[in-house]
Amino acid sequence: MKIPLSKPYIDQEIKECVLKVIDSGQYILGIQSREFEKEFAQFIGVKHAILTSSGTSAIFLCLKALGIGPGDAILVPSLTAFPTIEPVFHVGATPIFVDIDETFTMDPDHVREILIGAQKLGIKIKGIIPVHLYGHPADLDSINQLARDYKLFLLEDCCQAHGARYKGRKVGSIGIAGCFSFYPSKNLTVLGDGGMLVTNEDSLAERCRMLRDHGRKEKYTHELVGYNLRFNEIQAAVGRLQLQRLEKFNELRREIARWYAQGLEGVPVIIPKVKDWADPVFHLYVIQTSKRDSLLAYLKEQGIQTGIHYPVPNHLQPAVQNTLGPQPKLIKTEEVTSRILSLPIYPGLKKEEVERICSLIKDFFMNS
Ligand SMILES: Cc1ncc(COP(=O)(O)O)c(C=O)c1O
Repeated sequence: MKIPLSKPYIDQEIKECVLKVIDSGQYILGIQSREFEKEFAQFIGVKHAILTSSGTSAIFLCLKALGIGPGDAILVPSLTAFPTIEPVFHVGATPIFVDIDETFTMDPDHVREILIGAQKLGIKIKGIIPVHLYGHPADLDSINQLARDYKLFLLEDCCQAHGARYKGRKVGSIGIAGCFSFYPSKNLTVLGDGGMLVTNEDSLAERCRMLRDHGRKEKYTHELVGYNLRFNEIQAAVGRLQLQRLEKFNELRREIARWYAQGLEGVPVIIPKVKDWADPVFHLYVIQTSKRDSLLAYLKEQGIQTGIHYPVPNHLQPAVQNTLGPQPKLIKTEEVTSRILSLPIYPGLKKEEVERICSLIKDFFMNS
């Protein structure tokens, strides 16, 4: 019996909605997209939600609309998906990499240290992009305070954290904007690529909407030179149905995390830490062990798919080193990348399956 790392949820209603949209004759940024935007904005608790072609393009649009460009620097964590940092390069700015705290998210103390150092060197830092990695919110109050002190924008990368809460507030509603991905493995998927940008800022929302669709508000008047980063109706219809199920899915993920915590009691692995101010959504369930590679190989032999998010941190990626040169060492990030292992987690995962995975992990440690 094979167990995948993640599996998108699909039911009959979702399949049928696809056929309905095919018959509707409207395929791009129509009624389904508009309704999905409205419903998502309401869900997050913000004024505006703007559908985009992917999470990456949501981050790109936001940076572009904020006027970020050459000569600007942006603080980003190194332990994140490469697409968090790619848009920083695409607008011509420079990423500065920040280490992590015990929740794998951006360490506010390191942010402060970098800001103090940068001020002395005259480096023009414009913003901070914390990532709510694995579905656990970053320490937003501490980071936001620094953003205010240094007059920087805070853009939340929520691509792994749909519905997660920081001190009771949904992530994405706290910074100047939040960016979400709807890639198939995400907590909310549109069964393909897709993304959403959320914000309370009217002018930012308007600019992002225009840049998304060739710089226009009206069909043949292009006020800006924009892009085609639009969204499709079929996927918007799927997204609306997935959104209706999201809170239930997130509760199931939290339950699976509890099963893992129980099943791994006494096993020499470190399980994910949850801060008391966090309501995480467990996009991934990441354990740590010094025997990571042999545990991964053992579980694979037993039909259990696992993952490493991420084996090479971004400051050590060839594309970064070739563009920016050697980067300062990030002790905690570099240490965990050899220890982290993502175990299967998705709403349809059964208790017996989690128990089987846990007992395999126990067997592994007893025999190694
Ligand atoms: C943290 C993070 N940021 C950004 C992205 C980019 O999202 P997308 O794949 O939709 O472009 C992803 C998804 O892979 C992600 O996990």
